[in-house]
Amino acid sequence: MNPEIDLEIKGLSDRFDQQLKAAKTVKDIEDLEVHLLGRKGPIQALMPLLKNVSAEDRPKVGKEINDLKESITQQLAQAKESFLLQEEAKRLSSEKIDVTLPARKRPLGNEHPILATLDRILDIFIGMGFSVQVGPDIDTDYYNFEVLNFAPDHPARDMQDTFYLEDGYLLRTHTSNVQGRVMEQGNPPIRVVVPGKAYRNEVVTSRSHVQFHQVEGFYIDKGVTYADLMSTFDTFLSRLLRPGVKTRYRTSYFPFVEPGLEIDVECILCSGKGCRICKHSGWLEIAGAGMIHPEVLKNCGIDPEVYSGYAWGMGVGRLLMIEKGIPDIRLFMENDERFLKQF
Ligand code: PHE
Repeated sequence: MNPEIDLEIKGLSDRFDQQLKAAKTVKDIEDLEVHLLGRKGPIQALMPLLKNVSAEDRPKVGKEINDLKESITQQLAQAKESFLLQEEAKRLSSEKIDVTLPARKRPLGNEHPILATLDRILDIFIGMGFSVQVGPDIDTDYYNFEVLNFAPDHPARDMQDTFYLEDGYLLRTHTSNVQGRVMEQGNPPIRVVVPGKAYRNEVVTSRSHVQFHQVEGFYIDKGVTYADLMSTFDTFLSRLLRPGVKTRYRTSYFPFVEPGLEIDVECILCSGKGCRICKHSGWLEIAGAGMIHPEVLKNCGIDPEVYSGYAWGMGVGRLLMIEKGIPDIRLFMENDERFLKQF
């Protein structure tokens, strides 16, 4: 019998059971390892007591100490393993991202309704064999006026309230400034459309603005007549607004066309019955047009005895207002999202 050392072993074993139960984390286990299995730990402290044990019992007691040490080592290793797994599972679940949650949408911009309309217009004319040309917003008096048969003191210049810049430049008052540039370069047949901005020093109201978009178009070839202008423009409006939409060609005046015309389209909001938008006339004014003046052709080196052509210019905002019943042209410039999002 070795009461003293037996008691120590038993006590150590019982305490270990308690300590193991109390341990909750990997760190607790590691602390126990250091404490119990270290060189200054309680197991090691049993060794000196062996010398009090009889030589006969010593191997048996020694084995008991070793077994205890082994059992503690094993149990700690197992506990550590299971805590590691638990802690990892906990960490993984706290780091989990639920990819099925709907994402917060960032608001996307959309194409401006004027540009979208411009594209539709150009597509139709491209489909009819026209090509697209552009010209400068800042231009000379020559291309904006003179080549187009506005003499320097021509009263028609007053029709177009011009923004004059320094050194003889101006902001083009119409996309007609591209007519001369194209005509002086190419030999007929010429068939182009010209999208762009125009500028006029006018009072801003619900129907006019200092800056607006136009699409110009002209066709020059042998034997081009007024009938070509009408059929081309009617076809265009039929495709843009609705098949068979009614049109009306009224005489008007522009120095660069002869005869000059104003093109009206039946009010598509009231089908010509008369409403607020068409001011109860049933018609909406949509473009200026006419047969290109022989003087303009001559100015550009095209022989008016051989060639003839037509031209038109229309406001894009105007067309969109008519189509969608938009009451105020200023809405196109203000970039109010509540307005723009509707298109
Ligand atoms: N340039 C004219 C305007 O802006 C429109 C127009 C173009 C008229 C071509 C006739 C021919 O008012």
